[in-house]
Amino acid sequence: MSKGIQAIRGMNDYLPAELTYWHYIEATLRRLTAQYNYHEIRTPVLESTALFNRSIGETTDIVSKEMYTFDDRNGDSLTLRPEGTASVVRAGLQHGLIYNQTQKLWYLGPIFRHERPQKGRYRQFYQFGLEAYGYAGPDIDAEIVMFIARLWRELGLEDHLHLQINMLGSQAERAVYREKLVDYFSAHQDQLDEDSQRRLHKNPLRILDTKNPEMKALVSEAPSIFDCLGDESIAHFEAYKAYLDRAGIKYTVNHCLVRGLDYYSHIVFEWVTDHLGAQGTVAAGGRYDVLIEQLGGKPTPAVGFAMGIERLVLLLAEIKGECPLDESPDIYFVLMGQAAENAGFQLAEQLRDDCPNLKLQLNFGGGNFKNQLKRADKSGARFAVILGDDEVENEQVTIKSLREDKPQERIAAHTLSQFGW
Ligand code: HAM
Repeated sequence: MSKGIQAIRGMNDYLPAELTYWHYIEATLRRLTAQYNYHEIRTPVLESTALFNRSIGETTDIVSKEMYTFDDRNGDSLTLRPEGTASVVRAGLQHGLIYNQTQKLWYLGPIFRHERPQKGRYRQFYQFGLEAYGYAGPDIDAEIVMFIARLWRELGLEDHLHLQINMLGSQAERAVYREKLVDYFSAHQDQLDEDSQRRLHKNPLRILDTKNPEMKALVSEAPSIFDCLGDESIAHFEAYKAYLDRAGIKYTVNHCLVRGLDYYSHIVFEWVTDHLGAQGTVAAGGRYDVLIEQLGGKPTPAVGFAMGIERLVLLLAEIKGECPLDESPDIYFVLMGQAAENAGFQLAEQLRDDCPNLKLQLNFGGGNFKNQLKRADKSGARFAVILGDDEVENEQVTIKSLREDKPQERIAAHTLSQFGW
């Protein structure tokens, strides 16, 4: 038999059972964004290709190899967003949210990158992110990391994620550093692998980020950005670290942390776990003070981060096993005969009015008592509410606990909402 049309490689269907974890994470994130006063923004998944070329950088892997780009029917070049930051800046500029004011925004939605799919790396994946505009830091930089640290604590993951930070300096400081790096790596050109040869003149900072173990020694001897930083950048970094120390957030300073997008300046960071193999970066971000101007706005300080939801779900499932959120119904109505079906529908609607948080499932399509109880059990419900002719006649219901060994109870139907569900 033919397999029929399948989903596109690297693009996943998420089925109800796995989405329980997503809902658990999303509910926590919604609570935290409210606590920290961030506001949601939603932007289209399609944008003009120029937006990403101009912001992420033409020489980055994302722009040069991974974008889903096509001409639409009008001949305009469009791209499925490969990240959220550029879109949020574009929307902020377009709607006047950025000039002469401050903004704290969050977003959650699908992102598209044509990477080689493997565990934790997909071609469509979801990012949650925060972006803050008009704050020069380092206070807001620290708040963003505290938000993430709180998320890990609330999810019980604080012992499984480690923070790495670095200071990339201003554009001018980085330009000087870039020259130093080119000089250093050019002097050792014979030791560069193919990727690094390619990056040498286009994007030499990315050589620091190499995954090739044979290059590690060369990279560890490379000049440090700290040799090129001025007083202001150093003070920013020191103050940032002091905030983290006061908050009790542990971190490692990693001079080779450069990030794969070109718009960063000053602080960059990544939260990494050992549990997901090569795809261990769960959340990452930093400051991007030049991007807004690059995209046509007035110079505005900006900082943010994004987190891959799939990676977080994988990590939670590995560490926690079963999801703490249970989306099974609380009650399954077993309805024996036409009179019970009629009364059961009414009772269920009344109960939904009286107890809005209870989850109810009615039995549909009849069936004998044994079958209906089997379905009740399979639904995951904690209780079966049983109605037969006798119950209907006496305006009562029978309640059977499906998860605990307790005797059945028969109660007046009008007291159903007061039962200790
Ligand atoms: P990024 O490091 O490219 O940063 O992506 C952020 C996170 O998205 C990663 O740490 C990872 O969890 C997840 N992610 C990336 N690629 C994949 C993939 N192929 N499959 C599954 N998950 C993935 C950014 O996108 C920046 N916009 C972050 C930012 C916001 N910086 C400032 N504001």
